[in-house]
Amino acid sequence: MTKIKKIGVLTSGGDAPGMNAAIRAVTRKAIFHGLEVCGIRHGYDGMINGNLKQLKSHSVSNIIQRGGTILKTARSKEFMTKAGRKKAYDQLKANEIDAVVVIGGDGSFQGARKMSEEFDIPFVGIPGTIDNDLYGTDYTIGYDTALNTVVEAVDKIRDTASSHNRLFFIEVMGRDAGFLALRSGVACGAEAVLIPEIETHADKLKSYLEEGFKRKKSSGIIIVAEGEKEGGAYEISRKVAKDFSEYEVKVTILGHIQRGGSPSAFDRVTASTLGVAAVDAILDDQKSIMVGIVNGKTVHVPFNKTLKNVKHINSSLLEVSDILSI
Ligand code: ADP
Ligand code: F6P
Repeated sequence: MTKIKKIGVLTSGGDAPGMNAAIRAVTRKAIFHGLEVCGIRHGYDGMINGNLKQLKSHSVSNIIQRGGTILKTARSKEFMTKAGRKKAYDQLKANEIDAVVVIGGDGSFQGARKMSEEFDIPFVGIPGTIDNDLYGTDYTIGYDTALNTVVEAVDKIRDTASSHNRLFFIEVMGRDAGFLALRSGVACGAEAVLIPEIETHADKLKSYLEEGFKRKKSSGIIIVAEGEKEGGAYEISRKVAKDFSEYEVKVTILGHIQRGGSPSAFDRVTASTLGVAAVDAILDDQKSIMVGIVNGKTVHVPFNKTLKNVKHINSSLLEVSDILSI
C-alpha cells in the first residue's frame, strides 16, 4: 500500500488546450482516493518559489471547457540547474508533497526525470503539448484542438486565395516536428506540406506546383511547419515567388492562435483519461514515467524511453498527402 498522502500537480512549458481538463481529472481522482492535492503555479518556477495552493474538488469546477491552464505555466531557467532543482525539492518536502504530476512536453519531462533521479520523489508525466511529438503516446493533450484551429483558419484563407488566384504559404507550430503540419495539410487539402522530417527543396516544390498549374489550378495552399529546414514560410515563399509570376504569393503565420481555444471533445476525454491514469500510476508506486494512450489503451512509458526515442511521422499519411494534392 502506498505511503503517498499528498500530490503536487503543475503545468509546464508551452500551454495546450486540455491542460485544465487534466488538472481537473488529477485533482478529483486523487481526492476520490483520499489524497490531498497541491496546485503548483507557474510550472517549475512555482515549485522553486513555493507558489502553491491547495486544490479541492470545487477548485476545478467549470474548467474542463477552458483553454490555457488555471495553474499557469512557465519556462524556468533556474530549474535547468541542480541548485534550482534542490530548491524545488526542499519546497516539496517542506510542504509534505510526496509525488508530483507534471503536465507538459518533452522539456518538462527532461526536468522531471532529472529531479526523479537526483531526489527521492516520484514524478509522473501527462503529455501536454500541441506538437504531438512525444514518443510512446499516439496523442498529446492539445494536439487535436490545435489541429481543428489550423483547419478552420486555413479554410478561411483558401476562400480568399481562390478568389484572387493567390498562392498562400501558411506556417504552423510544432517546434521541430511536422505532426500538426502534415495532418492539417491532409485535412485542408493543401497543395503541398513542408515538414522538418522530409527534406523538400524549393525546386522540388516548384515542379510540384508546375504540375498543378498544368492542371489549371489557379490558387494554392502550402502548409509549412515552423521547424522546416528551408527556413520557414517567408523564406520558402521568396524562393518560389521568383519562378511563379502567374501567382500572387502571400504568407500567413498562424502563431499562438494554435495554442488557444476551448479544448475539443477528443482532448477533454484524452486529458480526463490520462489524469486518472497518472494518479493510478502514483498509487501504484510508479515513478519517472509518462502516461500515454496507444490504440485507445493507457500505457506507462519510462521518461528515459520517451525522451530517448524520436516519434516518427506516419508514412501512410504522408503518401495520402502527396497523392491527394495533385
Ligand atoms: P515543453 O515541456 O513544452 O517541451 P520546455 O522545453 O520549455 O517546454 O520545458 C519546460 C521547462 O522544463 C523548462 O522551462 C525548464 O524549466 C524545464 N526543462 C526543460 N529541459 C530541461 C532539462 N534538460 N533539464 C532540466 N529542466 C528542463
Ligand atoms: O511546444 C509548443 C509550442 O507551441 C511549439 O509548437 C512552439 O514552437 C513553441 O511552443 C512556442 O513557444 P512560446 O509559446 O514560448 O513562444
